Amino acid sequence: MNFIGTHILSVSQFDRAAIEEIFVVADQMEPYAQRQKVTRVLEGAILGSMFFEPSTRTRVSFGCAFNLLGGEVRETTEVKASSISKGESFYDTARVLSGYSDVIVMRHEIEGSVDEFAQASRVPVLNGGDGTNEHPSQALLDLYTIRKELATQGKNIDNLRIALIGDLKYGRAVHSLCKLLTLYNNIHFTLISPPELALPASYIKAIKAAGHDIVESNDLQQSIRHADILYLTRTQEERFPSQSEADKYKGLFRLNQAIYTEFCEPNTVIMHPLPRDSRIDAKELDDDMNNNPNLAIFRQTDNGVLIRMALFALILDVTDQVDKHARNVNWYTAKRF
Ligand code: NCD
Repeated sequence: MNFIGTHILSVSQFDRAAIEEIFVVADQMEPYAQRQKVTRVLEGAILGSMFFEPSTRTRVSFGCAFNLLGGEVRETTEVKASSISKGESFYDTARVLSGYSDVIVMRHEIEGSVDEFAQASRVPVLNGGDGTNEHPSQALLDLYTIRKELATQGKNIDNLRIALIGDLKYGRAVHSLCKLLTLYNNIHFTLISPPELALPASYIKAIKAAGHDIVESNDLQQSIRHADILYLTRTQEERFPSQSEADKYKGLFRLNQAIYTEFCEPNTVIMHPLPRDSRIDAKELDDDMNNNPNLAIFRQTDNGVLIRMALFALILDVTDQVDKHARNVNWYTAKRF
């Protein structure tokens, strides 16, 4: 795949070779993300960051990734703070903002909105999440995390046993991850959700067509016994027709340390795209697991910076220049990793 100048809108753009290329570059970004080295390779470049839906880690880690490569970030958050609230089209907004930026990352609640925006943009656009549809950078960082976690156990992604738990209907992180996993061999999917929030049929069809097996269940405890990875999600309540409808599904599947100890294999890795819903009536991933060494949720968020740096370096064609612009840091750096 040629990354230079391309939009990143869907994980369907990638094959295994492209994913491997991203992961190799992500590995090279570690000294920068860990604050051992500084590079200014994107000095003068501007990222237009447009998050029209709530976001903490995707928005900030895209921004940090760009800053860590030496570039600057111009940010718009919320529809009401932009001229979209005055009726401006994606076309006009994209034409305007692409005149101010070298690359744009965008999140919006409407499926397909980022594609529409990209068509009018004169610079590459990265999809930071479009409604229930896709979240490509999240899926890449999740897969990168899965690969790293499994490597510590002498396993690789082929033959993975993964249980996806919670709101599989509206969760775009799950949708993109399922698509990426179909590229590997012999993946065992266990889909644990209320029937009303099951993974949409098109994804199930694609998984089966690629030769993987799927078990669907709504019994958490019995279905997590033989998994390498548990991938939990919160109820995407903002996507439901009403709050009362969303509330029906809150707290139905909860993982805590007692359940983990009783039902999981000892090294089962726990993942979640975050945010986890820590309100008392939800708690799909209890904070009594915070000291469990197999809890990978904050390794996922750290890996997000590496993956997003890699995407920028590949799209803006600077992968072989990053180290040339490097120097050691000259401030106190706390041990983060
Ligand atoms: C996810 C998202 O926005 O789709 N969060 C994220 O980007 N890490 C998942 C979620 O909001 O539940």
